[in-house]
Amino acid sequence: MTSALRILVFSILVALCSCQSDEFLYDTFPAGFKWGAATSAYQIEGAWNISGKGESIWDTFVHSDEPHVADGSTGDVACDSYNFFREDVALLKNLGVNFYRFSFSWSRLIPTGDLRDGFSEPGVDYYNGVINELLANNIEPTVTLYHWDLPQGLQDVGGWLNRTVVERFAEYADLAFLLFGDRVKTWYTVNEPWVQAVQGHGWGDYAPGLNQSGILDYQAGHHLLLSHARGWRIYDEKYRNSQGGKIGYTMDSSWLEPKTQTQADIDAAERGMQFKLGWFAHPVYSVDGDYPPIMKEYVARHSAEEGFPQSRLSEFTPEEVAYVRGTFDYFGLNHYTTNLAEYAVYPFAPSYATDAEVFPSFNETWPESSADWLRVVPWGFRKLLNWVKNEYGDIPIFITENGYADFPGTIDDVGRVDYYRSYINEMLKAIKLDGCNVIGYTAWSVIDNFEWAAGYTQRFGLHYVDFSDPARPRTPKSSAALYKQIIADNGFPAPPKNEDKNDL
Ligand SMILES: *[C@@H]1O[C@H](CO)[C@@H](O)[C@H](O)[C@H]1NC(C)=O
Ligand SMILES: *[C@@H]1O[C@H](CO)[C@@H](O)[C@H](O)[C@H]1NC(C)=O
Ligand SMILES: *[C@@H]1O[C@H](CO)[C@@H](O)[C@H](O)[C@H]1NC(C)=O
Ligand SMILES: *[C@@H]1O[C@H](CO)[C@@H](O)[C@H](O)[C@H]1NC(C)=O
Repeated sequence: MTSALRILVFSILVALCSCQSDEFLYDTFPAGFKWGAATSAYQIEGAWNISGKGESIWDTFVHSDEPHVADGSTGDVACDSYNFFREDVALLKNLGVNFYRFSFSWSRLIPTGDLRDGFSEPGVDYYNGVINELLANNIEPTVTLYHWDLPQGLQDVGGWLNRTVVERFAEYADLAFLLFGDRVKTWYTVNEPWVQAVQGHGWGDYAPGLNQSGILDYQAGHHLLLSHARGWRIYDEKYRNSQGGKIGYTMDSSWLEPKTQTQADIDAAERGMQFKLGWFAHPVYSVDGDYPPIMKEYVARHSAEEGFPQSRLSEFTPEEVAYVRGTFDYFGLNHYTTNLAEYAVYPFAPSYATDAEVFPSFNETWPESSADWLRVVPWGFRKLLNWVKNEYGDIPIFITENGYADFPGTIDDVGRVDYYRSYINEMLKAIKLDGCNVIGYTAWSVIDNFEWAAGYTQRFGLHYVDFSDPARPRTPKSSAALYKQIIADNGFPAPPKNEDKNDL
């Protein structure tokens, strides 16, 4: 599709979609729809220096003298799920989920990150314990291989900026399939490559804390994409026949709504979607592969204007385009919020924002959360699902994260109850009214946990965790009861009989 035609189709789609309708849809999800909840290793496990685990870039980042974390906290102990994982499984069992999405700490399994230095038996024992406990409770274990905690040993030789990381990731993935693939049948290679690239290498607010936007973020992103593809192909070629599982990766994306109906803002919103989700989706899910044409065009033009001898965006060879394209079994999507998109030319360069020529903002009427980046805009979820279907075709979409941030101590979390009810309902509309092929949904998160640079100041859990108590007691919030009910009903079969319960 030419970009003019693409923009035309997009404009028609936006015009036709009555997605901002507030009417609640009483209906159920298709039979076999999968419900789950998620965590990641660094955010919950603690035990950062136990049983031979090597340090990761997050260990380094939180222990550095620079103040990287809002409340000065660390994930050294976090929810202590290294010791309390049976409690976590009991919470999942009570929710009635079909699956649990959690991640392996690469450096707990391979302390230096390089398998040639050996792997850790206690690390393997720990994940065998988690997996077997889940299976004993009839919950499917689904595993993220990389959720941002690169072994420090690999960072010491350049981390995601050094192409050899792709080989190290391939060896790690292969080991994971070999050791755990008899029981793990759903894999996610890389979680949110955009965040690892942009926040870890462009802005520097996340580990490894590098901040050359428009340069290092593109280089890191390139190797994250190649690593995903390597992991997928190893599974496909070596393990799929014998193990019979599925593998994909999980991208994060907001929905971008044009700030005004001017052509400049409508184009900016579409371009912003290509720079955000398209950056990591187009190479894998589009028919042609490679980065989105408009992203290549804009970065190349800006690079030339700035006097760079070549585009700051890395290039795939034709062989790599073919190697990366089609490496999916599903479209893993993490979604939280919506932004307004406005056409903008920035005074500073080079940077990712300059390249996209998009300024993101919020409509001040959108309800806030405890995270400044997260506003409650349920209809954006439905528009995003329609965009994915329109852009990449009828690929099964797997919602691998969705959730809401509140403040520490909230147990009657009415904000999260409202968020889940309305977002899950918009997903239902996308399936039932728009024909989007969504196969599963994952709530982020099972428990309050270490929210990266926000530390423990923002809480995403369905369960409250008391981080001042060494036993880390977990207490269900109101949203846990709501989610349990949605799962039991497989949706929203009918309006509540008792009007008083309307707000549940
Ligand atoms: C692990 O780190 C903790 C601090 O989080 C420290 O008290 C303890 O001594 C360390 N243990 C080892 C074996 O280094
Ligand atoms: C990349 O990593 C390899 C080890 O895998 C190392 O020998 C090499 O020096 C690294 N390159 C850079 C530029 O750091
Ligand atoms: C970028 O990182 C360098 C090195 O850590 C630091 O000195 C500088 O203040 C950072 N710049 C910004 C804008 O964060
Ligand atoms: C913000 O939302 C309000 C209420 O829906 C709407 O009237 C207004 O036009 C919106 N403004 C923008 C810039 O989207």
